[in-house]
Amino acid sequence: MPDSSRATIAERVAAIKARLTLPAFQAPMFLVSGPELVIAACKAGVIGSFPTMNARPIEVLEEWFERITAELAEAEKESPGKVAPWAANLIVHRTFERFDEDLALVQKYKPDIVITALGSPKRVTERVHDYGGLVFADVNSVVYAKKAAEAGADGLVLVSAGAGGHTGFTTGFSFVPAVRSFFDGPIILGGGIVDGPGIRAAEVLGADFAYLGTRFIPTTESMANDKYKQMLVDSTEEDVILTAHFTGVPANYLRPSIESAGIDPDKLSVRKEKKFDSRGDKKNEAAKAWRDIFSAGQGLRAIEQVQSVSDLVADLKAGYDKAKAAP
Ligand SMILES: Cc1cc2nc3c(=O)[nH]c(=O)nc-3n(C[C@H](O)[C@H](O)[C@H](O)COP(=O)(O)O)c2cc1C
Repeated sequence: MPDSSRATIAERVAAIKARLTLPAFQAPMFLVSGPELVIAACKAGVIGSFPTMNARPIEVLEEWFERITAELAEAEKESPGKVAPWAANLIVHRTFERFDEDLALVQKYKPDIVITALGSPKRVTERVHDYGGLVFADVNSVVYAKKAAEAGADGLVLVSAGAGGHTGFTTGFSFVPAVRSFFDGPIILGGGIVDGPGIRAAEVLGADFAYLGTRFIPTTESMANDKYKQMLVDSTEEDVILTAHFTGVPANYLRPSIESAGIDPDKLSVRKEKKFDSRGDKKNEAAKAWRDIFSAGQGLRAIEQVQSVSDLVADLKAGYDKAKAAP
C-alpha cells in the first residue's frame, strides 16, 4: 500500500469521521443488510455495510455495487462532504466458493472499506490497498486481534460479548483496552450497542467507532421481514439465547423465534459440524437457520419501534450528544 503508515491511516480515519453524523457503522448482517439499508445509513451519516454473500447470484452483487456507488455519488453532489463511506463485508474463509469473484467486483467498485470475516485479512489486503481502500478485520478475541494486526489489517472490528450473530465472549470493557495495548490503528467496537450513550462509551473506552447490527434490523430499509422486526420491538435481553445448536458456532438468537419454529429452546444440542462457513456455498443450509431463527444481540430494551434509518440516526445522535456533553 503506498500510504500504509499508521499516521496516514489516522489521517484517513479523521477524514472519514469528518463526513459522519456519528462515529458508527451499520454492521453487516446476513439476509438483513442490502443496498437500501447501506444507502440510507450512508446518507444519514453512518458507515453502511453489507455481506457480499447476501447478493445472489453474483450478477446481483454487481447490480448492488452499481446502485450503491451511483446513488451515493448522487447524494454526495446534493450534500457535499456529508455522505458517509460504505463498506463491503467479505468472507475470507477458504471454503467460501465465491471469494475470487466477489473480490474482483470489490476491486472494480472500490468500497472505501472492506470488512473481512471468518479468517485472516491477508488474502485481501494487497488488492484492497492497491485501489486505495482500507481493510478492517472482524475478530472476536484478543488472540485473533493480534493475528489480524500482524497480517496487515488497517483496523480491527472487535465483536464483543452480547453481540448479534456469531458473538464474541470478551466484554468490550476489557477487549478495547487489551487491543489498544498493542494496536494503535482504528478500533471498532461491536456487541449490544444500541443507543447514543453506548456509542459514546465505545469512544471513552478507546475505540474510534461503534458497530451496531441488531439496532438496524427494525428499520424500514432493512431486508428483515415484519415478524422479525416486531419480535425485536417486543423482546428484551431476557429473550436472547446463546447456542451453537444451529451453526456449530455460538450465536445469539431470539427465544420466541426458536419456539415458533417448533423447537424447544431449553433442549438444544450443540451441532458438531460447523455450518457457519457454508453460508457462501451452493447448498446454503445455514441460510435456513438464519431465515427462520432470528439472531439478535443483547441490546434490545432500547428498541421500541420500527423506524426509518434517518429517524433512528437522529435518535442515536441526540443520545450521543447528550452523553458527550455530560460532565
Ligand atoms: C442477523 C445478523 C446477521 C449477521 N450476519 C453477519 C455477517 O454476515 N457477517 C458478519 O461479519 N457479521 C454478521 N453479523 C454480526 C454483525 O456484523 C455485528 O458484529 C453485530 O451485529 C454487533 O452486535 P449487535 O447486533 O449487538 O449490535 C450479524 C449479526 C446479526 C444480528
